[in-house]
Formats: sequence, C-alpha cells, structure tokens
Amino acid sequence: MENKTLFFILGIGLVALALIVSAIGLRFEKFPGSRLVQLGVVALFAAVVVGTAAFAWLEAEDEQQHQHEEALAEAAESNEAGGDEAEAQEEVGPGVATTTTTAAASAAGAQVFDENGCGGCHTLAAAGSTGQIGPDLDGALKGKTEEFIHTSIVDPNAEIATSYSPGVMPENFGSDLSSDELDALVQYLAESTGAKGGG
Ligand code: HEC
Repeated sequence: MENKTLFFILGIGLVALALIVSAIGLRFEKFPGSRLVQLGVVALFAAVVVGTAAFAWLEAEDEQQHQHEEALAEAAESNEAGGDEAEAQEEVGPGVATTTTTAAASAAGAQVFDENGCGGCHTLAAAGSTGQIGPDLDGALKGKTEEFIHTSIVDPNAEIATSYSPGVMPENFGSDLSSDELDALVQYLAESTGAKGGG
C-alpha cells in the first residue's frame, strides 16, 4: 500500500526535521534568528504534522474500505454456497429450496446474462436490456420449459425461433459457461419471463 510508504516517509521526515532543527539550535545560540525564519520553521512543522495526520487518516479509511470489501466477498461466497445447496436440494426433490437460495441463484443468473452480452441481442425486461438481434425473451420464453431454455442456450441451432436465422446466436455458451452458471442463467430466465419451470 503506497499510502503506508508515504506515511512512513513523512514520519521519518518529521524526525529528521526535529533533529536538524535542534542541531542548528545547538550550534547557533540565537537560532531562530529572525521572525521570518521562526515562522518558516513553525509552518514547516505544521505542514509535516498535518500531512502525517492526513495520511494516517487516509490509511485508516483505506483499511475500513478493505474490511468492507472483505465482508462483501464473504457474503458473495456464502451466497454461492447457498446456490450449491439449492442445487443439492433440487436433486433430492422439488420445492425444498428456500426463497433465499433461489434469489441468490437468480442474482447469479442475472450476472451471467450481463457478462455474456446476451442483452446486446435480446430484450429482457428483468435485465433492462433492449437488444433487437434475437427474439424478445420476455415474449419468446413465456410458457417454455427450463429444458427448452437450456437447449436454446447451449445449442442455439437445435431449434430456430420463428423468423430468425440460424448461426447468429453464438454457440460457445455451452462450453464457456460452467454448469453452475448455466443453471443459474436458465433459472433466472425462467423466473423473469414466466416460463413453466420458473416461479
Ligand atoms: C449475437 C447475438 C446473440 C447473442 C449474443 C445471444 N443471442 Fe440468443 N439468440 C439470438 C438469435 C438470433 C436467436 C434466434 C435464433 C435461434 O433460435 O437460435 C436467439 C435465440 C435465443 C433463445 C431462444 C429463443 C426462442 O424463442 O427460441 C434463447 C433462450 C436465447 N437466445 C438466450 C440467449 C442467452 C441467455 C444469451 C447469453 C448467454 C444469448 N441468447 C446471447 C442471438 C443472440
């Protein structure tokens, strides 16, 4: 952290200044000689002290920010763990997942949608996207199964939406996205468009 270094330099500067001034004071009995020098020395001291204090303060803020970020990362991690749990529960049987874990998976799905540029081609109200190249997902996915959504993403050319051309939607999502990401994305789309499998 560079703030720490500056803080350190300022601290050393303060000590050095004190040593130099007292050394000069010892050599010249009448030091400080003039009012101007006196004021200058006082001002210099004040500046260094204020600077040191400012950096100490900045450093403390930085530390707080850091802790805040750590807390956020932890929260995200536990969210992810929640998602895994939901998945495990889904295997046991439907309807066991809690609202919290569903919300976590849905938020993860929204992130996958954003990060993969789906919104550039698709309109989706939940994501606030207005892409026109592919079908409007709000309308197109209504009443569709999660299975259909999943297939549409990993194998876009398996079934081409009416009046759209094959080969436009990228085919790499099936291999680029992890199965967790895919599941979250499908769940998110199902929920936000009112597809059958969703809530
Ligand atoms: C380069 C533009 C483009 C991008 C990026 C894109 N799509 Fe598509 N998508 C299309 C087109 C065009 C179609 C219609 C042709 C077809 O069915 O393959 C389509 C079809 C679909 C369908 C089926 C809709 C229906 O009515 O059958 C789904 C679901 C879908 N996309 C989801 C996604 C998701 C999720 C992403 C991001 C991971 C994404 N798309 C990224 C262009 C795109």
